[in-house]
Amino acid sequence: MGSTLLACCVLKACVVKSFSILLASPGAVSSHITRVFPAVPRPVAHPQGSKPSHPMDLMPRIIAISNQKGGVGKTTTAVNLATALALEDKMVLLVDIDPQGNASSGLSVPKSDVHMGVADVMLGCRDLPEAVVPTCIDGLHLLPATRDLIGLEIELVEASRREYRLKRALDAHAGPYDFVIIDCPPALNMLTINGLAAADGVLIPVQAEYYAMEGLGELLRAMNQIQKGGLNRNLSREGIVLTMVDRRTRLCRDVADQLREVFGDEVYQTEIPRNVRLGEAPSFGKPVHAYDPLCRGAVAYTNLALEFLQRMEAEDGGTDSATSAVDNVLKMEAS
Ligand SMILES: Nc1ncnc2c1ncn2[C@@H]1O[C@H](COP(=O)(O)OP(=O)(O)OP(=O)(O)O)[C@@H](O)[C@H]1O
Ligand SMILES: [Mg+2]
Repeated sequence: MGSTLLACCVLKACVVKSFSILLASPGAVSSHITRVFPAVPRPVAHPQGSKPSHPMDLMPRIIAISNQKGGVGKTTTAVNLATALALEDKMVLLVDIDPQGNASSGLSVPKSDVHMGVADVMLGCRDLPEAVVPTCIDGLHLLPATRDLIGLEIELVEASRREYRLKRALDAHAGPYDFVIIDCPPALNMLTINGLAAADGVLIPVQAEYYAMEGLGELLRAMNQIQKGGLNRNLSREGIVLTMVDRRTRLCRDVADQLREVFGDEVYQTEIPRNVRLGEAPSFGKPVHAYDPLCRGAVAYTNLALEFLQRMEAEDGGTDSATSAVDNVLKMEAS
């Protein structure tokens, strides 16, 4: 046990602090993770592990990862950003509100195996801590998707204050976490609206490709409506993350440069490269940091987490960024 614990400490130091220190082969390191932490999820009454790095009376920062365009890297970003934040000693809750359940299966919690999840919490049948499960990463917990998330929208049609079901649960029980990351489905439906109503900010993964702007305009307008219409006046933009970047192709460079020109600092400096290991990790039910902690994808998500934390500190005070973003995208669509 002593040696496995030591291996975990070494892994964490290796992943978080310096990728230049080559301690062991990635395979050897990641195998320690699976042995130390149980693969089978079990409910947790409250977050375990390291203490939250914020006073208990402060609420967590809630970030929705959203873009209604499909396959742009929302889930990959949600899982690996949440992991990288946990490896930075933050207490993180990942909430899977996508009926596809990809964030859950990507953390070894397939929706067919769990009987309690986000749908039960949103329907008010369960309290959030009852449905939360630990993951293979210390400090990262998951509120999983279950099969009944598919029918939840219909069940919510008649429900009172249906846009606030997730917010109500997080307000009541997410206090011990530093961050809540919500993986939204690729649609502007009631589930996404619940995510946006609960969130402090929205992080938008955008794939650096020709149709990059598709969906972005709609999302920004929806955010504007949610903010101005009073559903969530505090909703702000956390920024845009370029995903699956391959700077060897001219198209990719052009799209990335154009987005940076229009959105300026709203685009994260960190770009997520197209990386085979990022694509492979979910099929092993692991975040990339547990699958291959030294690969380019893992390094990129660690850098993204560090930039995210830096921005968070700098941002305190807030901006009306949803509005400025809509102006920008309208300008871009017109040009
Ligand atoms: N940087 C990357 N490099 C290589 N493959 C990636 C990368 N990011 C994501 N992928 C792969 O691309 C596919 C789509 O990614 P992902 O599931 O994260 O997108 P999504 O926006 O969540 O999709 P959906 O809209 O269906 O929810 C997945 O197979 C994923 O493993
Ligand atoms: Mg997804």
